[in-house]
Amino acid sequence: MSRVMGPDLEKIIISQEQLENRVQELGKQLTKDYQDKQLIVIGILRGATIFLADLVREIDLQMEIDFMAVSSYGLATKSSGVVRIIKDLESTIAGRDVLIVEDIVDSGLTLKYIVENLQSRKPNSIEICTLLDKPARRVEGIDVKYNGFVIPDEFVVGYGLDYAERYRNLPYIGVLKPEIYTT
Ligand code: IMP
Ligand code: MG
Repeated sequence: MSRVMGPDLEKIIISQEQLENRVQELGKQLTKDYQDKQLIVIGILRGATIFLADLVREIDLQMEIDFMAVSSYGLATKSSGVVRIIKDLESTIAGRDVLIVEDIVDSGLTLKYIVENLQSRKPNSIEICTLLDKPARRVEGIDVKYNGFVIPDEFVVGYGLDYAERYRNLPYIGVLKPEIYTT
C-alpha cells in the first residue's frame, strides 16, 4: 500500500497480482490472434500508458507502437461528450491491423470518436483492447473485443487512471474516499 497515496483510498478493487495475471492472459490471446497480421498498437494518452507498457511485453510478435491524445474529462469525473484530437498518430495505418489500447471504456464516447476517425484512414482492421469496462454507463454502442476486467459504476484510479492527473502511478486499481473529490 502506498504510504503517500494509500490513505486517500477507500479500497483496492484490483490488486497488482490480478493485473499481472490478466495482462499476461491478454498478451497470450493477442499473440495468437495477430500471428499473421501487420500489428500496430495505438495507446490513448495518458491513461493507457502503464497498461500498454505491460501488455506489449506480453505480446510475442513484431509490432509498431504509436500514441494518440484526445481531450477527455479535464478535472471532472463525467464525460463532456466533446472529443477532439490533441496529438495525432505519427504512423500511417492504411492496410494495417490496428489495436487500440485504452484504460477504460465508460460512456464509450471517446472510443467511438477514435474508431470512426481511424476507420476513415482505411486500416485492414481495428480492434479495441481496454483494461477496464464500465458497462453501466455506456451511451454509445461499441465493440470491445479485448477487455481486462468489467467493473461496477465507481470512479477508479491507479495503473494509469487518474483523478485530476494524480494517482496514475499506483500499481493497483482503487476507489478514492468520497472526501477526496469534494476537497
Ligand atoms: P468515455 O468517453 O466516457 O468512455 O471515457 C473514457 C475516458 O474517461 C477514459 O479514457 C478515462 O480517461 C476517463 N475515465 C472514465 N472513467 C474513469 C474512472 O473511473 N477513472 C478514471 N478515469 C476515467
Ligand atoms: Mg483520463
